[in-house]
Amino acid sequence: MDFWEVLEGRRSVRMFENRPVERELIKKLIKAGTMAPNAHNRQSWRFVVVTEKEDLTRMVLAMQPKYKQALLNSGMFQNQVDELAEKRKARLTSAPAAILPCVAKGDLPSYGDDERTEGEWMMAVQSAALAAGNILLAAHAFGLGGVWICAPMFAPAAVCEAFDLPADWVAQGMLMIGYPAEEPEFRERKPMKEVVHWVS
Ligand SMILES: Cc1cc2nc3c(=O)[nH]c(=O)nc-3n(C[C@H](O)[C@H](O)[C@H](O)COP(=O)(O)O)c2cc1C
Repeated sequence: MDFWEVLEGRRSVRMFENRPVERELIKKLIKAGTMAPNAHNRQSWRFVVVTEKEDLTRMVLAMQPKYKQALLNSGMFQNQVDELAEKRKARLTSAPAAILPCVAKGDLPSYGDDERTEGEWMMAVQSAALAAGNILLAAHAFGLGGVWICAPMFAPAAVCEAFDLPADWVAQGMLMIGYPAEEPEFRERKPMKEVVHWVS
């Protein structure tokens, strides 16, 4: 596909065919991710790949107590919370593959300076996001679809627990990946004059 075709044709796809994604294709997606620019070329990103529903379910169940507690804290009743949690489980486990971009916090230097340390963390997060963007574009170019789901970002410890990951891997979200079973509409972008400030 031509560059603009890939950029303009990509959509967030949330419904997938019940068909596995070939491992070789997943490897190509990860390779596309690792081609992204990244701070200091430190490559503090990690990619957790999940292709079995039971594994994804284990993760979602590990994330559930925190999610339910947040809903209860917001004033919802237990039965509403349970219903929402069930729906969320069904949604988050509906893709044949998932890639979780993580940041390996242990890779980052500590400067004994809070502002600099925070800056390094932000740069690592930004780098992982760029990798995720590449993965979503590559997925589209290869005939797949995907969407970034933020949920795991709110329970990174549960993700580590579910997949037995090193404790310093901080999930930034999850990319649901699969063969598209929908053709989502283009979501309008703000006009350029609203988002650009030309200085010269
Ligand atoms: C950081 C980030 C977090 C997102 N989180 C979610 C999410 O939790 N659930 C979801 O359905 N879509 C999520 N999205 C997808 C956005 O809703 C989507 O990109 C946006 O609406 C524009 O639509 P498009 O991707 O089809 O162009 C997320 C996207 C990004 C970049």
